Amino acid sequence: MIEKIDFHYTDDITVVNREQFDVHVRLYEGYVNSINKIDEELNTDAGRKEANTTYGKFRDLKRGETYALNGVILHELYFQNIGGKTSEPDLLTSRMISRDFGCVSDWIEDFVATAKASRGWAVLAFEQRSGRFRNVSLDSHDLGNIAYYAPVLVLDMYEHAYFLQYADKKADYINFFMSNINWDVVGERIKF
Ligand SMILES: [Fe+2]
Repeated sequence: MIEKIDFHYTDDITVVNREQFDVHVRLYEGYVNSINKIDEELNTDAGRKEANTTYGKFRDLKRGETYALNGVILHELYFQNIGGKTSEPDLLTSRMISRDFGCVSDWIEDFVATAKASRGWAVLAFEQRSGRFRNVSLDSHDLGNIAYYAPVLVLDMYEHAYFLQYADKKADYINFFMSNINWDVVGERIKF
């Protein structure tokens, strides 16, 4: 059983207001409920005997499993990496970003573009196969993930993340996010 993390709005969160934040947390909690229901179903016969690639209960459960679990994980990473009191990355984080993107401002330009191009998530991640950081674009919780990578910064680009507050001002949401990153959290994630 996966336990919900209790996320509460705090004064250091400036990227979204309380109303937008609270609605979003409820959506996250829905994903936790979903993965727990799916896990429960997978503990039964779950239609395994009829499993096939076209249609069926077992296939639906396996599709739902990665969708709901990634929905939980990505939302937790997102809520944890906003707010805080640090406005810039620490030296180690800056060096690692600069090594793979040229400099921090070049990384920002690429990350913002990645966010604008994403229907689901923009993720700064360490990709183990190449041994480097990449800005990864996900169109959905289960669409666009690299098989072997470690997310260190996550931005929710689904419209539900910002539309209540920003409406169609998507660029404003992204810019306010960039100035409200909890770099302490990102710095800890980079120390694998
Ligand atoms: Fe979301």
